[in-house]
Amino acid sequence: MIGPDELFARATDPRQYDAEAMDWTPEGDADAPWPRFVRERLAPALGPLAGRSVIDLGCGTGHLALLFARLGAGAMTGLEPSARHAGAARRRHPGLRVVRGGLPRAPFRRAFDDAVAVLSLEHQRSLDEAYASVATLLRPGGRFVAIAGDPEFHRTPRWGLGLVTHARADGSLLVATTYPVGTVHDVIRPPEQFERAARGAGFDVTDRAALAPDEALIARDPRWRLFSGRPVAWLITAAAP
Ligand SMILES: C[S@@+](CC[C@H](N)C(=O)[O-])C[C@H]1O[C@@H](n2cnc3c(N)ncnc32)[C@H](O)[C@@H]1O
Repeated sequence: MIGPDELFARATDPRQYDAEAMDWTPEGDADAPWPRFVRERLAPALGPLAGRSVIDLGCGTGHLALLFARLGAGAMTGLEPSARHAGAARRRHPGLRVVRGGLPRAPFRRAFDDAVAVLSLEHQRSLDEAYASVATLLRPGGRFVAIAGDPEFHRTPRWGLGLVTHARADGSLLVATTYPVGTVHDVIRPPEQFERAARGAGFDVTDRAALAPDEALIARDPRWRLFSGRPVAWLITAAAP
């Protein structure tokens, strides 16, 4: 059985998304049920983006480019460490400038009005370092919207997926989830840890919202009914120092 140190090492190694045994790109398809749900929930959290410069941290296949364009973003960038994902994002969304790299070493300084991270902070060794890094790439007062998985959801057996979990003393969860596309390793932290890290980096936390499957998501993928009304992820919004 894989131990906690190995689970953490795999979860924080971005090369997992370039492994032969795992290909996440179908899950990141813009038309897939979960990415659509994410865009629907992010739209009101972001509001109009006219003239604003926005970055998607860990952009995966780049599906948020559709939302940024619809909201009128002036410029959009994706930061992505995986070669496979960066390539897919460039092919699928030519309007998105894709930069290879990852937090906490983002090669930007005070360059963006808004930053978004969807299910990518699960691969950070330290949330404190991640938020400190995001603070330096945003303009003063810029917004950071993070969507992060919920620990209770991630430890719940579901849909025949393979699950190896290790609960840590601080309330976070190390998890290896085996999907049909392969095994993904994550560090799943409770929302309080995101808020603490944000405040520690000088952010003002302006919103925390539970994301629960709605009828639209359940209609597209009925498996989500199992979690109807229950948080599966959190949306945490903060304003940069
Ligand atoms: C579950 S995928 C989510 C992708 C995309 N945000 C989406 O919602 O479809 C996690 C992404 O985080 C990226 N990632 C891994 N380590 C990272 C790091 N240190 N900094 C930024 N992104 C990272 C992965 O390469 C992968 O594309």
